[in-house]
Amino acid sequence: MKKIAVVGSINMDMTVTADRIPSKGETIKGNSISYIPGGKGANQAVAAGRLGADVDMFGCVGDDSFGETLVNNLNENGVCTDYIKKVAGVSTGLAVITVGENDNTIVILAGANDCVDVEYIKSVEDKILESEVIVLQHEIPQETIEYVVELGYRNNKIVILNPAPAREVKRDIIDKISYLTPNEHETSIIFGSDDFEGLMKKYPEKLIITMGSRGVYSVDRIGEIINIPALKTEVVDTTGAGDTLNGAFAVSVLNGVNIKEALVFANTAAGISVGKFGAQGGMPTYDEVMNRMK
Ligand code: RIB
Ligand code: NA
Repeated sequence: MKKIAVVGSINMDMTVTADRIPSKGETIKGNSISYIPGGKGANQAVAAGRLGADVDMFGCVGDDSFGETLVNNLNENGVCTDYIKKVAGVSTGLAVITVGENDNTIVILAGANDCVDVEYIKSVEDKILESEVIVLQHEIPQETIEYVVELGYRNNKIVILNPAPAREVKRDIIDKISYLTPNEHETSIIFGSDDFEGLMKKYPEKLIITMGSRGVYSVDRIGEIINIPALKTEVVDTTGAGDTLNGAFAVSVLNGVNIKEALVFANTAAGISVGKFGAQGGMPTYDEVMNRMK
């Protein structure tokens, strides 16, 4: 069976809800606190797993109770955790999240995610290469991302890079991947330009820009703009919406669907996911997405 390999971060999300996010220097009262599974890598793996795909997760956790909880959670969502490394004496990745009414802020402590180094990748390389699609984000060391991109490129894999959180991406890396999926802010940082249309025309069917409530954009090979408007739905928590989109997009690509249909599917999944609290809360099953697309 065809598979997806996610190489990325695994975090515990310490999520505080408040009526709004505080402004600089301000203290406000919160409403609740929860410890819930997150991390962009794990989130994208769970998104794909819930949609029924065969997913292998590659990453690291610490030898603490959060690590154990997070590995169990991946398993419960149908993600294979056989190759996750438990690193002694290191803390599992942690994200401190504030969820306001319409937005959120996130501070990350990488912890064990920094142990996802080239040496670890070399030890699981043959396992990664069992997958047709490789999915990466920006919460592991840059060097590792570049190594995996090269590996995927040399072996004719479909590589999806979700460049979040924002940092620069080398031109050579962009050339070697199949899809780059930044939001607007990440696009500006990566390309040093806000000419989104021009950029998408330069990278047709490769650069996919997510624009929150304005939906998702790309340009097809004949230069026509593709825009899939955001789903009209009640928003409870947008944390992980981008991750749902990437995980779902990976599933569509694995199934050989064309880019427009893949984006409709991914956008629908992301729209459904914001209806529930937590990065992984609300990530839909395949049938839920299909029903919503009818
Ligand atoms: O994309 C959302 C994720 O970003 C959260 O789950 C948090 O862990 C951070 O990595
Ligand atoms: Na959610």
